[in-house]
Amino acid sequence: MFQSTTTHHILTRFLISNSRSYILVTLIQIIDMAVRGSFSSRAGFILAAAGSAVGLGNIWKFPFEVGLGGGAAFVVMYLGFAFILCFPVMVTEIAIGRKTGKNPIGAFGALGYAKWSIVGKIGTFAGMLILSYYNVIAGWALGYLVEMLMGNFDIGNNFSAFTTNMVKVVFYTVTFMSITSYVVGKGVAGGIEKVAKILMPTLIIMIVSLAAYAFTLPHAMKGLEFYLIPEFDEITAATVGGALRQAFFSLSLGMGTMIAYGSYLSKKENIVTATALVTLTDVIIAFIAGLMIFPFVAFNNGGDMNNLVSGPGLLFVNLPGAFESMGPTVGVVVGSFFFLLIAFAALTSTVSLLEVPVCYVVDEMKIIRSKAVWYVSGIIYIIGIPSLLGFGVSDFFTNSIVLPASTDFLSFAASIADTLLLFGGFCIVTFAAYVWKKENLVEEIKNGYEDYEGSIAHKFLNITISYICPVLLATLFIIVVLSHFFGISLI
Ligand code: PFF
Repeated sequence: MFQSTTTHHILTRFLISNSRSYILVTLIQIIDMAVRGSFSSRAGFILAAAGSAVGLGNIWKFPFEVGLGGGAAFVVMYLGFAFILCFPVMVTEIAIGRKTGKNPIGAFGALGYAKWSIVGKIGTFAGMLILSYYNVIAGWALGYLVEMLMGNFDIGNNFSAFTTNMVKVVFYTVTFMSITSYVVGKGVAGGIEKVAKILMPTLIIMIVSLAAYAFTLPHAMKGLEFYLIPEFDEITAATVGGALRQAFFSLSLGMGTMIAYGSYLSKKENIVTATALVTLTDVIIAFIAGLMIFPFVAFNNGGDMNNLVSGPGLLFVNLPGAFESMGPTVGVVVGSFFFLLIAFAALTSTVSLLEVPVCYVVDEMKIIRSKAVWYVSGIIYIIGIPSLLGFGVSDFFTNSIVLPASTDFLSFAASIADTLLLFGGFCIVTFAAYVWKKENLVEEIKNGYEDYEGSIAHKFLNITISYICPVLLATLFIIVVLSHFFGISLI
């Protein structure tokens, strides 16, 4: 299915043109769009892009960074970074994608800078790496959903027994990857957009209901105080860096996801307002996730907010205990609701991660989407095997990675991906500002936003894309490389 207005525009050009080669080019464009697909509506695009952004990063990473890094002061800082750093990078990625109608690797070539396609290649690799371990965690969430439905709250105390049960883990991770592949295989409008339109509103209702319920639990206020009272002395250079990285990862930037999604966006859409809405949705959902998580944690710990765990320990060890304490019936409902929410949030992100390499294979290798998804997801699943084995099954993948920031393969893969995203983000904005040139970026943004030139948004984006984003991203990249790989802490 392809955009009727854009098609109309192309057909009009087709009819009024006398030139044969022009007719040919236009016909190729029509066929290309029909083959590639596109979002069918503005809301569909926004929900799909927000779905990519809202994921595991929001629900387990964000609340803890907030809790440990200054409470509300961190939230404000995160919000600032989301708009100063992430919003301009997202506008840039979407504009490059829409201008070229290509995947992140082909896009640079389509603009006439084929050498820069290395940036798209690195980004695509980073996305495949993220999906390889993200799918492992999503698979666990699916498994926990089933355990919660069966009332097996003790699973929290048996997390390592679960992660080392190969039959279960392989079953759930293969199932999750298959669901992702199925959705992506259905195409942009028929798969990604359709699922986002159902899952995103459902996810919002679920997270708000769970947060509302969490407020009613004993000790909820202790959790909320911990989360929300600003502690300015806890804001250090390291937490500022953490907020920047978290915002960047959370908005799915630096690897070309938004180039791919932008390539399916109609020329009549206003990229600036669409991006602002996506950014806002991501920040709001991350914030509400904290309102839900901390009362649960406080309830489980009897109001003691010291010695908190983050990451897998939080979701898969601590919270099942909280659900158990709610009693069998309520526990089953809240517990399964919670892991369903995690699975939904993960799914809208995994489809965007899979879309990037699939989009490349469809565009450049001319393999049909329904086949491409299975080849690509098969490769990614294989890349994810060391992460899957790195939680107790294989001693090597669990303990032998000797990096300052990681000993297990999953954290190692996450460190590499984290670093590559910052590098990719730096290259993309630098490319747009100084190689492709800002005038061209402005021309693209003007489609769907006629008054853009000279507007406040234009001035803001001009400064951020030219100076603030490249400087912040380059600095952060150096800091992260030194700390992740050499154990040198600059901040
Ligand atoms: N934004 C997702 C999250 O916060 O969980 C993760 C993610 C998805 C990162 C897609 C990068 C990406 F391209």
